Amino acid sequence: MKRLLRSAGVASLLLPVLLAGPTPAHSQLPDEFTNLQVLPEDMPPRQLVGVMRGFAVGLGVRCWYCHVGEEGQPLSEYDFASDDKPEKRKARFMLEMSMQLNDDILPGIAEFAERAEPGLRVQCVTCHRGVPLPRQIQDIVTQTAAADGVDAAIAEYRALRERHYGTAAYDFGEQPLIDAAGELSDDPAAALAVFDLALEHFPESIQALVGSAQVHQVQGDADAARAALLRAQEIQPNNPQIMRMLERLGNP
Ligand code: HEC
Ligand code: HEC
Repeated sequence: MKRLLRSAGVASLLLPVLLAGPTPAHSQLPDEFTNLQVLPEDMPPRQLVGVMRGFAVGLGVRCWYCHVGEEGQPLSEYDFASDDKPEKRKARFMLEMSMQLNDDILPGIAEFAERAEPGLRVQCVTCHRGVPLPRQIQDIVTQTAAADGVDAAIAEYRALRERHYGTAAYDFGEQPLIDAAGELSDDPAAALAVFDLALEHFPESIQALVGSAQVHQVQGDADAARAALLRAQEIQPNNPQIMRMLERLGNP
């Protein structure tokens, strides 16, 4: 597994870190590292800490997420060399993967067309955006709805929004909820609940109003469908799709 880091590789891993903070954590670490399998064995401590901070910031975690040690414990008491935690073993695999992407795979674009200028390098944060498991929010909603029901999915959405709103972790815009509701269309009650969640945050969402109208129609609830469409028409009086749907529904 041992391979040499090209210098550009190390530099790219370091980049987010130089901005990340001044604490001299490296002074609390061992001078010699005994279990570096991917990074160069003789990496200077200051540089290694920089790479590690990049991991931590990229995933929105602390050192103990991967290493044997506890929050609040001095770093000097951590067992950094241990591979006991599966998170560390996964992170090592990810490090290899990122290096292969940057050093072996992405340069291959040049065979087909010029590369972007200035060049980009894949970092942990490129995929992880500050969370350990880089799932899309619409997938979280549909997967939790399938496993534990739509109420659990909505509770999870609210909790994630509370915690991560304003960061790059998840897209709390309108579209992922519309997509999730669409995915849930086999379960009309679940789809409606997710459209309602979208409307709670985006009361003028034409997509959510028209989407709920369609689900109400499928359920045979013409009154509810009409009400949603009339609300949509207040917002967009000249939208031809809304006019057509209202015509087709006829008068109450
Ligand atoms: C996302 C997981 C992850 C996080 C978070 C993380 N590390 Fe690491 N760390 C690793 C991996 C993986 C290695 C081994 C790299 C290799 O094999 O080349 C490692 C190796 C080390 C080593 C070398 C241990 C040895 O003797 O071989 C030290 C020291 C270290 N990390 C310190 C830290 C510090 C300090 C933090 C918090 C700022 C931190 N790490 C955060 C995954 C992580
Ligand atoms: C190309 C996208 C991508 C990059 C770059 C990437 N990861 Fe990941 N990472 C993923 C995906 C996708 C998963 C989920 C894998 C799975 O299905 O178990 C994941 C999972 C992980 C996990 C396990 C999380 C868990 O709860 O199971 C760790 C730890 C991790 N990555 C660390 C890193 C570190 C550290 C880096 C940078 C060196 C990195 N990743 C770079 C996409 C990426």
